[in-house]
Amino acid sequence: MKQFFTAGILAWNELQNDRSMPWKQEKDPYRIWLSEIILQQTRVEQGRPYYERFISAYPTITELADAPDEEVFRLWQGLGYYARCKNMLAAARTVARDFNGRFPGTYEGISALKGVGAYTAAAIASFAYNLPHAVLDGNVYRVLARFFGIDTPTDTTAGKKLFTQLAQDVLPVQQAGTYNQAIMDFGAVVCKPQTPRCKSCRLSSQCVAFQKGLTDLVPVKSKKLRIKKDISIICC
Ligand code: ADE
Repeated sequence: MKQFFTAGILAWNELQNDRSMPWKQEKDPYRIWLSEIILQQTRVEQGRPYYERFISAYPTITELADAPDEEVFRLWQGLGYYARCKNMLAAARTVARDFNGRFPGTYEGISALKGVGAYTAAAIASFAYNLPHAVLDGNVYRVLARFFGIDTPTDTTAGKKLFTQLAQDVLPVQQAGTYNQAIMDFGAVVCKPQTPRCKSCRLSSQCVAFQKGLTDLVPVKSKKLRIKKDISIICC
């Protein structure tokens, strides 16, 4: 089942994935890092023009590091969550000053940068260096929960542990970067939150949620969030 899953994601990517993004095929860790920082809490369509503007203003991480704070904050305007921008600048300055402008080449080194969490570190490590670290974002949780029929809430310690392990288990280590990008695209295009495209999905024959009619019920979020949502429906 795990092999079928991995092979299916890779085949879909090879044959059917036509999602284009300016940072796809990108190998420059600076550009990958920048795009992933911009995309934290920002949709791909909204983030794209910001990415383009940052890259033309600062083609290298040293140029970003040398820019005045106000100039960078002005370019960031509209993206919100200014802590992201502050951390981005701090990380750029660490790389420029402490590492001579050379972006770290290991998962641990990347993780140590300000503003880089587990997801972002895995994305950069796999896209730039093909290091075998599985990404785990909302798309990946949803795809794994549905295909493997997992109803453990994703926002609990047990859920995080289970999904982290499973995501790593199904990662093809030789093609980590391609696969990580593919599973996120698959979640965005096929295994969408609402109205997933199960009819044309090459994984549906072994997808537990599809076979049991549970695609609307998984992934599961813990009670706290559901109650909150229910209350807001009742109140407003
Ligand atoms: N969201 C954040 N980074 C992404 C990526 N590289 N591909 C698809 N969605 C993303």
